[in-house]
Amino acid sequence: MGDLRRRSISSTAKSAIAEASQRNLSSDEGPRIEPKYKQILAIGLICLCPYLYMLFYHYDVEDELRESILINMVMSIGAFFATTFIIPVASKYVLRRNMFGYDINKKGSPQGSIKVPESLGLVTGIVYLVVAILFQLFNFTSDSIWLVEYNAALGSICFMLFLGFVDDVLDIPWRVKLFLPSIAALPLLMAYAGHTTILIPKPLHSYLGITVLDLGWIYKLYMFFLAVFCTNSINIHAGINGLEVGQTIVISSAILIHNIMQIGLSSKDDYKQAHAFSIYLIQPLIGASLGLLAYNWYPSSVFVGDTFTYFAGMALAVVGILGHFSETLLLFFLPQVLNFLYSCPQLFKLVPCPRHRLPSYDPQTGLLTGSKDMNLVNLFLRLFGRCSEASLCVKLLAFQALACAFCFGLRSVMAGWYK
Ligand code: UD1
Ligand code: MG
Repeated sequence: MGDLRRRSISSTAKSAIAEASQRNLSSDEGPRIEPKYKQILAIGLICLCPYLYMLFYHYDVEDELRESILINMVMSIGAFFATTFIIPVASKYVLRRNMFGYDINKKGSPQGSIKVPESLGLVTGIVYLVVAILFQLFNFTSDSIWLVEYNAALGSICFMLFLGFVDDVLDIPWRVKLFLPSIAALPLLMAYAGHTTILIPKPLHSYLGITVLDLGWIYKLYMFFLAVFCTNSINIHAGINGLEVGQTIVISSAILIHNIMQIGLSSKDDYKQAHAFSIYLIQPLIGASLGLLAYNWYPSSVFVGDTFTYFAGMALAVVGILGHFSETLLLFFLPQVLNFLYSCPQLFKLVPCPRHRLPSYDPQTGLLTGSKDMNLVNLFLRLFGRCSEASLCVKLLAFQALACAFCFGLRSVMAGWYK
């Protein structure tokens, strides 16, 4: 985070900070923290309607399971309101500590000189964890095996939230912060007692002579890389108002649809339970993220920070791992995979990599122009022409939704033939 000031704080410095922060809040350059409910309602409806239709009408979900999902849903709605309520309060506190960023895509306009509070993903993360922890009261009464993995998953998510916040505060160098998720994944890796086997694709059965392959520790290595990839890939597909949270919500909605389809189509109890487990972890993620998006949508009143990008990436990764659908998850992550591959020359320093790889903003027209930096944000601008920040974000999110639709299409074409 470029503008985060770090100081060693003596008592006089503390009062100086307090004074400065009072000025921040009361001066003209202080931010206006306003939720954008209309946009959130539209995004929420577009993303969640297919899932709700499938849950309530299309599939015949057992009453007991549906009841657990409903309780979790009500708690997730609570998470949305709690997040929207807490963010304006928390914003004042982070500004007081001089944790803010300037909106780079508005540089040169009055909005570009406003101090935008940073790291508000912290609120989303805390609300999410509280809901996910409390939900155990209503479920998992008889099946304690799930409890271990559920809490290990929460341990990893919590650890990642903490390390993301550490990164926001200390502004850790790029190469080091790439490895933070590998530390946070440890609780899950250590507690994971699920299967380590993969189904061999049917076309390969005759060549390999086996249908199932036990990967053993290699499977854990794969989990490890998945967690590192999901977190970092969301963090580098960022920098446009609403994009970090938006992509999380689109991917999460696709995961919900996938889960409810699997529950609806399967008759195996274990399999259903694995997918229900994913739903319990994803619904609160959507609720708390929508609350954050209300303030982060264009024009952003708050930034989410690496606290959010890392937290959300880890939450999605653990859900994919424990729900046993990590291949599908990677297909949902198609834009992130493309963005990562395209970014490789800059990430590995074959091509110079500036601190921010963002487009350039023209204060006269209010439009963004793609820079030479190698990421999807700039590529979209170069391919589809200059546009406003809000419409660029919508285009990128539409592409994310398209990737998810492609994944569902591919799954249905391959079903029966591939696995
Ligand atoms: C990653 C990207 C970087 C991108 C940044 C934006 C790589 C290697 N790194 O770095 O290119 O610029 O994310 O998040 O691809 N900001 C905005 N508008 C937004 C969101 C963020 O201007 O909508 C700016 C603010 O100044 C904010 C800063 O980005 O303070 C946060 O950047 P940070 O998350 O610390 O960057 P990285 O994750 O290191
Ligand atoms: Mg970041």
